[in-house]
Amino acid sequence: MNRGRRLRTNPLIRGMVRETRASRDSLIYPIFFEEGNNIKAHIDSLEGQYRYSPDRAKEAIDDCLSHGVNKVLLFGIPKEKDSVGSQAYAENGVVQQAIREIKKEYKDEIYVITDVCMCEYTSHGHCGILNGNQVNNDETLKYLSDIALSHVKAGADMVAPSDMMDGRIAAIREKLDGAGFINTPIMSYAIKYASSFYGPFRDAAGSAPSFGDRKAYQMDFGNMREAIKEANFDEEEGADILMVKPALAFLDVIRELSYNTNLPIATYSVSGEYAMIKNAGKQGLINEYGVMCETTTSMLRAGADILITYYAKEIADAILRGDIG
Ligand code: PBG
Repeated sequence: MNRGRRLRTNPLIRGMVRETRASRDSLIYPIFFEEGNNIKAHIDSLEGQYRYSPDRAKEAIDDCLSHGVNKVLLFGIPKEKDSVGSQAYAENGVVQQAIREIKKEYKDEIYVITDVCMCEYTSHGHCGILNGNQVNNDETLKYLSDIALSHVKAGADMVAPSDMMDGRIAAIREKLDGAGFINTPIMSYAIKYASSFYGPFRDAAGSAPSFGDRKAYQMDFGNMREAIKEANFDEEEGADILMVKPALAFLDVIRELSYNTNLPIATYSVSGEYAMIKNAGKQGLINEYGVMCETTTSMLRAGADILITYYAKEIADAILRGDIG
């Protein structure tokens, strides 16, 4: 008789035949930096997550390192917003300050990645420069590459454009190369769907569009071939890592991308995914820890190499315990 259960009799044999392995090396933790001083403010829509001012970066980073997480993705929330998102590429903008603080203290102990976008910095909340009610793609490219360069000049190790403008990877690559930063990689939010899962993030970052939506630049969630097309464009333009976002509702897209690229694949388990698990756990409807372990494993099983998640620290602990991987 075929007895599948022979390989499930105890934890040792189950560990031996496990197909999906996890490593703390592949975890990236997102951190929000708010302009100001001495701030550590709880984000109510993302329980357990905080907005820090740059001068308190050390607390956030020490906490990560204590769990063995040594990659972070930085977001900024400026005091002043305007129509062209000036604070996004200001030499002394909030993210630029945070990068300098972190690099001064930790040098290469921590790998700093920055989100490159305009929506947190524009008064209208769209991810680029407006022309009437439309985001002007080609005009926006200049701004995005200036943002990326200002982050790298401040000390960022990698940039991650999340705006979904066409041609932005080539524009950013050219700008970085021209300034001598030929070895700074670009992680492209290549396949980013127009998703309702970003709700809590927009609350946290104050980046909801003041009118309309992002459907003219972010992708239609029904599309798979278009996803691969987008990823291929970014690969041709020089992306070093491709991202699929959100994660859980798009595991099939991660898998399909894994057949269609040789680049590392990252996935971003976004704010709505975290909030759903957190809140259902809090209400006693599910076991939060168990669901975290299961969903994390599903992203890796689908083919992701790199995970960006608000649970990064808890996942790192679960990996050490052997509950994941
Ligand atoms: C900026 C950006 C967003 C997220 C990451 N970068 C928001 C958006 O596109 O509206 C979402 C992250 C999350 O939900 O956790 N463009």
